[in-house]
Amino acid sequence: MKILVINGPNLNMLGIREPEIYGHLTLSDIENNLRNFAKSFDNLELEFYQSNHEGDIVDKIQESYKKIDGIVINPAAYTHTSVAIADAIAAVDIPTVEVHISDINSREDFRKISYIAPKCISQIKGLGEKGYANAVTLLYKHLSK
Ligand code: DQA
Repeated sequence: MKILVINGPNLNMLGIREPEIYGHLTLSDIENNLRNFAKSFDNLELEFYQSNHEGDIVDKIQESYKKIDGIVINPAAYTHTSVAIADAIAAVDIPTVEVHISDINSREDFRKISYIAPKCISQIKGLGEKGYANAVTLLYKHLSK
């Protein structure tokens, strides 16, 4: 089973970026911890991708068609703006879980809207790094059914 973990814009700045909101872990810390976590599942391979560019994320989702079984995505700011990423997820029809480190519902009003969530099997928010592990677990169970 292959799960692709996509992180959107400014998440390459984790560790530096607003630590009071996003914590002190870098994206590499999160990816390494997730890679270790994935070892507890049989036959699970993770791939990681980060981009600050909407079209590149759309390309990556399209390239996943017939190659990737599940997607974990933190679309970051594109959550609240991107019809293109939502359409790409719908187009490839790959089970996808949306993750946010912070609780987007308890922040500014514009963060309460997600264009991506309606195309996902679940949205996980406000759990910090743990949200990614929960998303992988949820997808693994969903795909193992
Ligand atoms: C985020 C929340 C978004 O609103 C924000 O633009 C991000 C990070 C999160 O993980 O909490 O860049 O997706």
